[in-house]
Amino acid sequence: MPVVPTKEILDRALAGRYGVGAFNVVDDLSTEAVLAAAAEENAPVILQTSVKTVRQYGRARLFAIVTAFMRDAPVPVSLHLDHCPDRAVITDCLQGGWSSVLFDAHELDVAENLRQTTEVVAEARRHGAHVEGEIEGIQGVEDGIGSDAAPAVQTLEVAVDFITRTGVDCFAPAIGNAHGQYKAAPTLDHQRVSDLVAATGIPMALHGGTGLSPEQFQDLISRGCAKVNISTGLKEAYMRSALEFLRGAEAKGSWDPPSLFRHQRAAVMEMAREHIRIFGSSGRAW
Ligand code: 13P
Repeated sequence: MPVVPTKEILDRALAGRYGVGAFNVVDDLSTEAVLAAAAEENAPVILQTSVKTVRQYGRARLFAIVTAFMRDAPVPVSLHLDHCPDRAVITDCLQGGWSSVLFDAHELDVAENLRQTTEVVAEARRHGAHVEGEIEGIQGVEDGIGSDAAPAVQTLEVAVDFITRTGVDCFAPAIGNAHGQYKAAPTLDHQRVSDLVAATGIPMALHGGTGLSPEQFQDLISRGCAKVNISTGLKEAYMRSALEFLRGAEAKGSWDPPSLFRHQRAAVMEMAREHIRIFGSSGRAW
C-alpha cells in the first residue's frame, strides 16, 4: 500500500468510528517499529514528526529516512507534521512531501489564526496535502512547543466558525487533555467532541493520548476523535527499554548495539500494538 492521504485515513476512521494512532516517531528505529506493529495489526497508521525532529535531521534527510520504511508498508500510512507554529517549516514540509500538517497558531488571536490557516489550507491543497487546525493550546510542553498553563477554551461557535471558514480537514480541540503523563486523572469534555463533529462533520484529533484509559479513548473515538496522538508513550518505551537493556549490558560487560536495538524495537512495537488495539483500528487496513 503506497502512502495515502491523511484525509482518506481520517475520513474512513470517522465513518467507522475507530481511531487511528498518530505516533510521534523520532528516528529510523521507532519508524520501523510503529510500522511493524501496524502491519501485524493490519491497521492504518499515521507517522508524525515534531518540528524538533525535522530540525534535528533536516527536512530532506528525515523525509528520506521515514519514507524508506513507509514505501514498503503493507498498510495505509501517511506522514504528518505535528504542532508547527512556523510558516517556513510548514511550507518546507509541504514542498518536501509531508501528507499533512498541524498549523498550530493558537498563540495568535483567532481572527489572525483563521486568516493564516486559510492560507495554509490553500497552500496544502496545491500539494494534495491536508491540514489540522488549532485555536486553543493543548496543555503541556511537547518537544519544546506549548505551555503548562491551562489553555483558554473558545466557544463552540468560534471553533465551528474557524473550521468552516478555513476548510481544515481535522481539528485539535482542548478538552481537558494534556501532553505528557497526566499528574491526575483528567476530566474530559467529551460533549465538546460530539458537538464539534455534529456541527462540522470533520474528524477531531485527540492530543495528549499518553495516559488516558481505554474507556476514555473509546468514548472519545466513538464521538469522532479519529486521530489519536501518542508521543510520550513512544519516548518512554524507547528510552526505558534502552535503560533496562543497558543496565544488563553493563552488569555483563557485553556491548552489542544490534541487541539493544532489537530490545527497543520490541518495546516500541508492543506500545504501538496495545494502542492500536484499544483504538479499534486492528483489521481496518484496506
Ligand atoms: P502525549 O505526549 O501525551 O502522548 O501527546 C501526544 C500529542 O498530542 C502530540 O501532539
